[in-house]
Amino acid sequence: MSALSVPNTRYLERVGRDERVWLLFAIVWCLFLFVIMYVWQFFGSQRTPIESYRIEPSEFRTLTQEYVAGHQVGDVNGVPVTVPTEQGEAFLAARAFAFEPVLQLRRGESVRIYLSSYDYQHGMSIQPLNLNFQVLPGYVYVVNLTPTSTGEFGIVCNEYCGLGHHVMSGRIIVTD
Ligand code: CUA
Repeated sequence: MSALSVPNTRYLERVGRDERVWLLFAIVWCLFLFVIMYVWQFFGSQRTPIESYRIEPSEFRTLTQEYVAGHQVGDVNGVPVTVPTEQGEAFLAARAFAFEPVLQLRRGESVRIYLSSYDYQHGMSIQPLNLNFQVLPGYVYVVNLTPTSTGEFGIVCNEYCGLGHHVMSGRIIVTD
């Protein structure tokens, strides 16, 4: 007998009834999840941003620096703390290996956060709420946010971006 003979089992038989039922169940479940993904986009309480624009990282850096220069109210460990503009807009930049500036928001006041990266792909994870966004150089995401509780919220990078990934963090402060 050669080493590559056909297995002497039900190997080539037609799929049995149980297996067909499970396959059907899996396919229906996949379709359900696929559809709910779009339903959630319009009716869910937590939605990922669908507003994004292309931007050169250097241009985003300039806009962020202008925003920081005009709206700084303090600093934390050398990182500027800023408040939103009168129109309720703020910039948040990710870079190797930090988020800047620190955003100081007010509870109940909506803010449009322009989020992008100066260099690599990063992740923005707001803790302990576990809100997660991808941060890509060349694209600016508009994160619409209305804080519902006060306190300090940490931001961690959850997309591996280099040797300093594990120390990459930022902060959002929400006051009354
Ligand atoms: Cu930035 Cu990991």
